[in-house]
Amino acid sequence: MLIRFSRLALLSAGLCAVSIGTAAAEQKQFPVDPTWQAECGSCHVAYPPQLLPAASWDRIFATLGDHFGSDATLDPAVAADLLRYAQTHAGRAANPAPLRITETRWFRHEHDEVPMATWQRKAIGSPANCAACHRQADTGDFSERGIRIPR
Ligand code: HEC
Ligand code: HEC
Repeated sequence: MLIRFSRLALLSAGLCAVSIGTAAAEQKQFPVDPTWQAECGSCHVAYPPQLLPAASWDRIFATLGDHFGSDATLDPAVAADLLRYAQTHAGRAANPAPLRITETRWFRHEHDEVPMATWQRKAIGSPANCAACHRQADTGDFSERGIRIPR
């Protein structure tokens, strides 16, 4: 399976708000790791690794025992494999390693049309709950045609 993004230009340009959809890298594909999907997709959707820079993945994997208030500890060998996968397909960022995709300028820019009150709807709860609106997020599809915002 391959993950596709339109507008990946934004991500490879540094997770920051740059002009949309003009750069060459309109689409980028990368292989999905079934272990990543299973281990990192059990509590939330398995976030695509290119949505954070390598340094962010370092920080996240160094603190899995206290992962946003949850214990996401993994077998050390599995964790090492997944960290390597994340780093291989990581994005780049100008700002120092954010722990959250949802705190990146890229994310805020991409979602600036979503009103504050929408994020707080019961069916959504948190911007990190990608799958609430991106109905195909579990297959790695975040394209516009898969978006439906719950009432
Ligand atoms: C035991 C449950 C659990 C597991 C397993 C888990 N997570 Fe999480 N993760 C969470 C919770 C809870 C949050 C906070 C969600 C929120 O703010 O709504 C979170 C948030 C995140 C975020 C930040 C999302 C954002 O942008 O706000 C990232 C990145 C992340 N997890 C990566 C991972 C990775 C990588 C793995 C696999 C190694 C993993 N998670 C496994 C529970 C889990
Ligand atoms: C409240 C609903 C909602 C949530 C939750 C949400 N998004 Fe979005 N997302 C949108 C909307 C609306 C757009 C903008 C569509 C447009 O105008 O192009 C968007 C756009 C995007 C795009 C660009 C799609 C494209 O092809 O142009 C990506 C990638 C994306 N979101 C990823 C994520 C990720 C990753 C998460 C979770 C960390 C997330 N979104 C959470 C509603 C949401």
